[in-house]
Amino acid sequence: KKRIFSGAQPSGSVTLGNYLGAIKNWVKLQDEYDCIYCIVDLHALTVRQDPAAFRERCYSFLAQYLACGLDPEKNIIYFQSHVSAHAELAWILNCYTYVGELSRMTQFKEKARKHRDNINAGLFTYPVLMAADILLFKTDLVPVGEDQKQHIELTRDVAVRFNNLYGEVFKIPEAYIPKVGARIMSLQEPTKKMSKSDENENSYILVLDSPDLIMRKFKKAVTDSEAVIRYDEKAKPGISNLMNIYAAMTGRSFEEIEKEFEGQGYGAFKKAVAEAVIEGLRPIREKYRELMADKGYLESVIKCGATRAKDIASQTLKEVYDKIGLVPLP
Ligand code: TYM
Repeated sequence: KKRIFSGAQPSGSVTLGNYLGAIKNWVKLQDEYDCIYCIVDLHALTVRQDPAAFRERCYSFLAQYLACGLDPEKNIIYFQSHVSAHAELAWILNCYTYVGELSRMTQFKEKARKHRDNINAGLFTYPVLMAADILLFKTDLVPVGEDQKQHIELTRDVAVRFNNLYGEVFKIPEAYIPKVGARIMSLQEPTKKMSKSDENENSYILVLDSPDLIMRKFKKAVTDSEAVIRYDEKAKPGISNLMNIYAAMTGRSFEEIEKEFEGQGYGAFKKAVAEAVIEGLRPIREKYRELMADKGYLESVIKCGATRAKDIASQTLKEVYDKIGLVPLP
C-alpha cells in the first residue's frame, strides 16, 4: 500500500478551504492507502498563541478532524509535538537546506509581510519542519491544497540532495492536489485565498459555522455586475469561486452548473451554494458535538496515534543519524 501523509495547523478552526482542499480528500483516501494525518501544533507556534486557548483549540481541532470523517482505526492521527523525531529531523534537514531556497517561499514572504513584528526564525524554517514531517514517514503522496505545492517541491529537493550524499534514505514524495477545491478563495476578496487568519469574518466559512451564519456569509459574498453564471477566473473571480465551492460540494461539473442556473440571478445561485454547504457540513457539526463531550475518547485517540507514529518515525530518524555519522548510543 502506498503511504500518505498530510497535516493542518491548529491555528484557528477548520475552514471550508481546509475541508475542500485537503480533509475531504483525506477521508476519501483512507480506505485505499496507508494514511497518516498529523495536527501540526509545532508549526502553529510560528505565530504567537495564547497557551490556554491554544490547548483547547488543539482538542477541538482533533474533534473536527474526526467529525469530518477521518477514522482513527483506519489512519494514524496524532499531534506533531508528541513525536519528537519531527523536531529532531527538522534540525538535521536545516543543515541541508539553503537560506536562498527558504527566502523564495511565497508563504514565508506573505507571512513576513503580515506579521512584521514577529518574523521569527521558526517562520523562516517552517518548510524544513514540514519536510521532516513528510520524509520521516517515507511518504509517497501528500494530499494538500494548491498553496502547499511549493513546500512539497522544496521537500523533494532536500530529499534528493540528502539521498545523493548518503544513498537512498528518503522516499521522494509527490503532491496530490484535487481537481476541484484545491484553491478556495475569500468570499470578500475573491482574488485572495480563503484563510482562517483573515480579519474579516465574512471572508471565510468555518466547518462549524451555524446554518444561519453560512447563509448570511454567502449572501454577502462579493460577485460582479454581469449577472451571468459562468466560469471565468480572471473576469469573474467571485462567481468562479462560488462555482468551485458548489462543484466540490455536489460533484457537479462547471457546465452542469452553468446549465442549472441559466437565466437565474446571483441571489438564487448564492442561496443554492449556501444550501449545498449547509447540508454538506451538517453531519460534521453534529458529530463534532458528540466528540467534544467525550474527552476520554479523544485522549485514547491521541495516545494511540502518538504510539504508532513514534514507532515509524524513530526508525527513519535512526537511519538518518547512522548515515550522517552520529555515534550510536552504546
Ligand atoms: P494549513 O493548516 O494552512 O492548511 C491545511 C490544508 O488545507 C489546505 N488549504 C486550502 N485548500 C484550498 N483552498 C484554501 N483556501 C485552503 N486553505 C488551506 C492547505 O493546502 C493544506 O493542505 N504547511 C501546512 C501544514 C503542514 C503539512 C505538513 C501539510 C505541515 N506539515 C506536511 C502536508 C504535509 C499548512 O500550513 O496547512
